[in-house]
Amino acid sequence: AAVPHAVAAASAPPHLVLICFPGQGHVNPMLRLAKRVAAKGLLVTFSSLASVGARLAAAAGVSAGGDGVPVGRGRVRFEFLEDGDPGPDLDDLMRHLDTAGPPAFAALLRRQAEEGRPVACVVANPFMPWASDVAAGEGILTAVLWVQSCTVFSLYYHHVHGLVEFPPEDDPEARFRLPGLPEMSAADVPSFLLPFKLLADAIITQFRTIGRASWVLVNSFAELEGDVVAALPGVTPRPPELIPVGPLIELQQQAGQEEEDAVRGDLIKAADDCVEWLDAQPPRSVVYASVGSVVLLSPGEVAEMAHGLVSTGRPFLWVVRLDTQPHLPAGFVESVSGRGAVVAWSPQERVLAHPSTACFLTHCGWNSTLETVAAGVPVVAFPQWGDQCTDARFLVEELGMGVRLRGARREAVREAVEAAVAGPRAGEMLASARRWSAAARAAVAPGGSSDAHVQAFVDEVARRARG
Ligand code: UDX
Repeated sequence: AAVPHAVAAASAPPHLVLICFPGQGHVNPMLRLAKRVAAKGLLVTFSSLASVGARLAAAAGVSAGGDGVPVGRGRVRFEFLEDGDPGPDLDDLMRHLDTAGPPAFAALLRRQAEEGRPVACVVANPFMPWASDVAAGEGILTAVLWVQSCTVFSLYYHHVHGLVEFPPEDDPEARFRLPGLPEMSAADVPSFLLPFKLLADAIITQFRTIGRASWVLVNSFAELEGDVVAALPGVTPRPPELIPVGPLIELQQQAGQEEEDAVRGDLIKAADDCVEWLDAQPPRSVVYASVGSVVLLSPGEVAEMAHGLVSTGRPFLWVVRLDTQPHLPAGFVESVSGRGAVVAWSPQERVLAHPSTACFLTHCGWNSTLETVAAGVPVVAFPQWGDQCTDARFLVEELGMGVRLRGARREAVREAVEAAVAGPRAGEMLASARRWSAAARAAVAPGGSSDAHVQAFVDEVARRARG
């Protein structure tokens, strides 16, 4: 017989289970949310596919099961689905998630109750809409964590409900407006919504079910995207309320948060000697370049980027994933040794926080965007597809934190880096970046806007769990 979920021993902390889509850009914000919530006294279980568990074990030393590790007043533990291996292809993965995910997640939830940790609430990723249905079927409260910007949420929402027609891509002059947002063009719309529709179906499904969750937490903060959040309730049909709880960055630089570093979400082992290398560079000298975990540059782009970075005459730290390293010019790593470092994966937040880092050449994934905002590092924005285009516009045009790089030609790379680090507007960009950094840190500091939202969420989960 099913074990009731909502009833825990009066003294036990409420138990929250997070279920995460398998991707670095999803694991990082989910795990950081896990730590924020645990720090306020909840027991949190982070779950995902078995393959994510294996990678976290190998790269970050995470071990599944047991009581987990203490974080603040609570604990974070890990448990993974028994779901088999979908392989690397995205279509196979999406199909696998839909078929193997629901029974494996239901089993995981039941196991919690049987082992004396009944689940008070599930936080799901909107890319796995079935997770909320499984939780609801077990009588468990649900929340979702939206891991992209509120701007992107609004664009998707308007599109899915037929409330906006985006201008054609071949008319760069045409503009459109949505509530609480500045004028945009087709180039600012996430590319999944335009004729190139890789994940469009998954996104549409998310928006059909997202309103059923009791909370929609978003990785953003009120001071950054307050206008779009405030405008959404005026839209018909009315979207769910967005609750900003970000930026979901690591807080290890703040006093008393050291234990956070004990739980890391790297799916690839980070080259920790990057920090020593940065220590040896002059202050604000280094160009840090990375295109995140999913963008694949073509062999030609990698070669142009290599020449471009060298031609800046500045030290650079470049993340080139192992699958891309064969495209580097022959002998490149040896030839730049000392002045340039190439790593397969970096401890990115430590790199951005390092005083030697001068600018970030980024693909503008939303995590990288928020991390550079929080660190106060100006950008060379080099978006490729999806929400990266929207985020690049936001960084450059709204926040005034950098310049755009269009295409990976070597001269363009050199000019863009120069403009961001030493050009006539570089001082202004650095000042903006530092102002936004202060605002981001204030939002997650005790009593800040996002910290208060996390506290309210935790209090409400606890109140409902105690019934
Ligand atoms: C993707 C999408 O691009 C992103 O917009 C979406 O919100 C989530 O899925 P990804 O392309 O990997 O994510 O980029 P990003 O969102 O920036 O996330 C990458 C994460 O990996 C960041 O948290 C970053 O700190 C980390 N990282 C990246 C490292 O720790 N080391 C590296 O070398 C590179």
